[in-house]
Amino acid sequence: MKIGVLGAGMMTEALAAGWIRAGHDVLIGGRTPDKTADLAKRIGARAGTLREAAEFGDVVLLAVRLEGLEKTLRAAGAPQGTLAGKTVIDCGNAVDVSDFSQITYENGTSMAEEIARLSPGAHVVKAFNQAHASVWRMQPPAFDGRPLTVPMAGDEAGKTAARTLITDLGATPLDTGDLTQARHLEAMAIIVIRLLFSGHDLLSAFTFTGPAEASTSS
Ligand SMILES: NC(=O)c1ccc[n+]([C@@H]2O[C@H](COP(=O)([O-])OP(=O)(O)OC[C@H]3O[C@@H](n4cnc5c(N)ncnc54)[C@H](OP(=O)(O)O)[C@@H]3O)[C@@H](O)[C@H]2O)c1
Repeated sequence: MKIGVLGAGMMTEALAAGWIRAGHDVLIGGRTPDKTADLAKRIGARAGTLREAAEFGDVVLLAVRLEGLEKTLRAAGAPQGTLAGKTVIDCGNAVDVSDFSQITYENGTSMAEEIARLSPGAHVVKAFNQAHASVWRMQPPAFDGRPLTVPMAGDEAGKTAARTLITDLGATPLDTGDLTQARHLEAMAIIVIRLLFSGHDLLSAFTFTGPAEASTSS
């Protein structure tokens, strides 16, 4: 698969390196050319501008901080249609880091829906936002022998490629529905981030009693 990446930070390094190991062809587009070129060299990708990455990929990963979202999409030519017909994967978190509150858009819509609004014709999928970059560096991302489950939400055309890219990292995709479900994935990430930054054990918070055990307990 040809994958264009918008952003040259921690998430790009972790996810793109895994996809390159799986045999995909990656071009990283960044706003800071030296940093982008260094990262691309380190992981065996090509480097270019944001627009070149948008044009290169059949799939485009958007991995920038929220404050740079609109600027990045405009520099990539998204409003002019450079992402039309492509799968756009949004791994971002809509979080205000001053108080770890959630940022939403008009009528409570999500960051992923905002990306779809700014990128006419793109097949936007929310995925990869729940786990820290260090998890995506694991080969494979598994805990106690169980592969990581990766919830995703988006339109059907985009989810086919997202499923492949999740599986290629050694994780298991979980389809949570259409793009409106990104609102829940973004809200859930706020809780995850708060737990992480307050030093709580995430696994203890998200380990639930399974139905089999629940049905036998009184
Ligand atoms: N890090 C994690 O563990 C993690 C986990 C899950 C989800 N996420 C989400 O994934 C996204 C990327 O995270 P990251 O950790 O990769 O971020 P990062 O390393 O801090 O930066 C990613 C990219 O955002 C660009 N950027 C930052 N501020 C910008 C601005 N004001 N205007 C334009 N571009 C800007 C940076 O540009 P330069 O290259 O010029 O610095 C960089 O290329 C974020 O939405 C984050 O919430 C992160």
